[in-house]
Amino acid sequence: MFRCCIGKEDVKQFYPFLAGRQACAYLSVVFWLRMDLTLSQHNHLHNEQRRKLERQAGEKEEEQIVTEIMRRRFFPDVITYKAWEGFHFAGHEIRITEATDHYGAVVWPSALVLCYFLETNSKQYNLVDKNVIEIGAGTGLVSIVASLLGALVTATDLPELLGNLQHNVLQNTKLKCKHQPCVKELSWGIDLEKNFPRASCHFDYIMAADVVYHHPFLDELLLTFDHLCKNDTVIMWAMKFRLDNENQFVDRFQTLFDLEVISNFPSLNITLYKAMRKGRMKVRPSK
Ligand SMILES: C[S@@+](CC[C@H](N)C(=O)[O-])C[C@H]1O[C@@H](n2cnc3c(N)ncnc32)[C@H](O)[C@@H]1O
Repeated sequence: MFRCCIGKEDVKQFYPFLAGRQACAYLSVVFWLRMDLTLSQHNHLHNEQRRKLERQAGEKEEEQIVTEIMRRRFFPDVITYKAWEGFHFAGHEIRITEATDHYGAVVWPSALVLCYFLETNSKQYNLVDKNVIEIGAGTGLVSIVASLLGALVTATDLPELLGNLQHNVLQNTKLKCKHQPCVKELSWGIDLEKNFPRASCHFDYIMAADVVYHHPFLDELLLTFDHLCKNDTVIMWAMKFRLDNENQFVDRFQTLFDLEVISNFPSLNITLYKAMRKGRMKVRPSK
């Protein structure tokens, strides 16, 4: 508690033009106003300091999680004619055969982020017996992890990727999963109703890792999300931001879907989104 200790003598000495009780009252007000200002400056500095500390703590936490995610990856001790990378997820060692001549034949960091999230949030996002489709599955890591976590998975990509995708999926899930995953062609926007009829296809989850970048099929990609997504489907989408058209895609995506950030890694430029169809009927909580 601050006390105003301006006496009559002080007033006479320093402010001879003021006198009496009025002067004391006047100076007390000035004093309190100054104190108020100092206090608010102090509060401002304190808040700044707190925000800085929170930001630093957030960055430290992010750094630790990124380190933990990257630690899940390992490389062969001996290099042979067959290129592969290893990963530890869902209690299994996963070996992924890769080729550097196609961007869909290597594992991208967004896939690791999504796998880590699925594994570490398996209570909240329980995949057991859930119907899951992955689009742009590439090497199949996300599909494999979802299968190991108990989902019934359809891994999809362009026709030229299916051989390697099938090989990886089979090698890493055979006799290890509750439901054997399947691999199927899905070229975005093409023959969607023929290959995935709305009436008979129902997916609980659509998974997508690093499917938005500088390619000419962004309209078709949005069409594909729209076609596959029912009112109760949850989209799990790991997005690597590189150029401005990625932001534009997010804006367009939001015209159809409600988007929520569930994990963010600024140091990797990767955001993990959960999305659901806009305007769906809300489920009423049971009494
Ligand atoms: C950057 S890679 C990501 C692969 C994988 N999801 C990952 O994160 O490791 C993009 C993937 O999208 C697929 N893709 C690109 N254009 C496509 C299209 N028009 N239809 C279907 N898949 C496509 C590629 O074949 C590739 O597997």
